[in-house]
Parts: sequence; structure tokens; C-alpha cells
Amino acid sequence: VHPIRKAVIPAAGLGTRLLPWTKTVPKELLPILDRPAIHYVVEEAVEAGVEEVILVSAPGKDAVAAYFDPAPELERTLRRRGRTAEADELRRLSTLCEIHVVRQHEPLGLGHAVARARRLVGEEPFAVLLPDVLVDAQPGALAQLVRQWQGDPLLAVHPVDPEEVGRYGVIRPDPDHDGRILDLVEKPAPGCAPSHLALTGRYLLDADVFDALAETEPGAGGEIQLTDAIRLLLAAGRTVRWATFDGVPYDLGHVAGFLAANAALAARRGLVAPVLLGAAVAR
Ligand code: G1P
Repeated sequence: VHPIRKAVIPAAGLGTRLLPWTKTVPKELLPILDRPAIHYVVEEAVEAGVEEVILVSAPGKDAVAAYFDPAPELERTLRRRGRTAEADELRRLSTLCEIHVVRQHEPLGLGHAVARARRLVGEEPFAVLLPDVLVDAQPGALAQLVRQWQGDPLLAVHPVDPEEVGRYGVIRPDPDHDGRILDLVEKPAPGCAPSHLALTGRYLLDADVFDALAETEPGAGGEIQLTDAIRLLLAAGRTVRWATFDGVPYDLGHVAGFLAANAALAARRGLVAPVLLGAAVAR
């Protein structure tokens, strides 16, 4: 199969669930321990073999892409002061991969955001990583997905509790074909979820999804949903597969998820005694 060299990272959301934090700071730049959330996601993509990231940005969120810019002045100053490790780290950050920015001018949904990347993705298969989800995993979730890829669209899923299922896209696995998806539903109503397997926010897709997105009508929340475009692929007869991964996903779209992610990483690095963190770490 063709290598996955490109990744689309939608970072155009308004972050309304994280106000007032996100009034002036894009949610992708909120810190998980010592670095902004977006840093982990780009590293995850690079670890999986991605060479080119297409960041979907929005007005007021230029600082997200700027985070990956070279900072020659700062680097020189650090080197002059003998702070080589920090200078090297800054250099590494700006050479991780190529970053391209496309813009979504109106918040019309995740599917609409991904469609903005069509021209830069071209005809090759590509990954989508939602930066709202930090997956604590080794190797990273995307690398695990790439390893399982057979060429068909492949979606990472994780099990969720029944009371949480309505927050996600949820798959109906094919009982007759291992690893295939029969259908999927974005944000199912209570009692209507086809399984307890939720889309994690890591996808391997190909250019067909752009044709599907062009036909996708607004769905859940009145937004153009990526989930609905993938449904159209299924309706057109494409095989779409699901895979699980070893690791823990943290939903950074709300404050509790941020705290849990910070707590888990801090405990692993020995920064705080795990006993202080209680339920957050157990999650
Ligand atoms: C998005 C996707 C959903 C997926 C979720 C993962 O929803 O639409 O299918 O399960 O990310 O976090 P959002 O969180 O943007 O509402």
C-alpha cells in the first residue's frame, strides 16, 4: 500500500466549551504538561511517517501554525547563553515536518474543515488527526493504525461508556466481516447507538472522501460531518474498516479531559505522586 505521507489536522474550531481560556488562546495551544496540545499531535503524525501536515486554521488562530515556525533570534540567544538543549529542542520543533496552512472562514463543521485540504492532499491517501484528542500510547495511535492499514479507509475506535456514547461518532461493526464497518452515526440519540465503539479522531482516508464531502448535507448540530461523508463512501460500496489501539484517549474538548491528560502524563514522568491524582489517572 501507498505510504501515508500527508496528514490533515483540523484546528479551526472555536473552542466554546473551553471559554474563557479560548477567548484569546486557541485550544490547540493550551498546555499538556510542558507543551501545547498540538505539539503532541504533530509528533504523533511524524512518528507514523507523515512528512507534510496540512493544518486547517481559522481567523484569530494564526498562533497555532506559528508555534512550528523557526525562531532564529531566540535560538541564537539561547546558544549564546549556553542553553544548548533548549535551542536544539526549538530547532527540532521547526524541522519536524512541513506545515501548510489552509483556512476555514466559517465554522461549518469538521467535514467542511477537512474538505479545505483537498487541493493540498491531492490524490494520495492521507491521515486525519483531531487535535482535540490526545492519545497516550506507545507507539502512537496513528503509527498503530498505519501498521494495520490494508488500503481501505480505516478508522480508529475505542470503547466508551453508554452514557458517553452520544458525544461521539459511533460505528456499527459488520458481524459477518471482521474489522469492517456496516454503518456509523454521528452523536447518536440516547438508546440509538449501534455499538459502544466510538471514533477516536484518527482516520486513514483517501481522495474519495473529498467527493463524498462535496455531497454531504449538514448533519448533527447543523454541521457538515466527516462521519456522514464516510457513510456516503459505505453507501457507494466502499469497504471501510475499524481498528482499536493500545493506549488511552483523552478528550481535550472540555476542562476535565485536560486535567486528566495532564495528570496522567505528570504521574508517568514522576512529577506528582500518582496517589494524589486518584480517579483522573485511573481513567
Ligand atoms: C468529532 C467527530 C466524532 C468523533 C470525535 C472524537 O466530534 O465528529 O465522530 O468521535 O470528534 O473526539 P467533536 O468532538 O468534534 O464533536
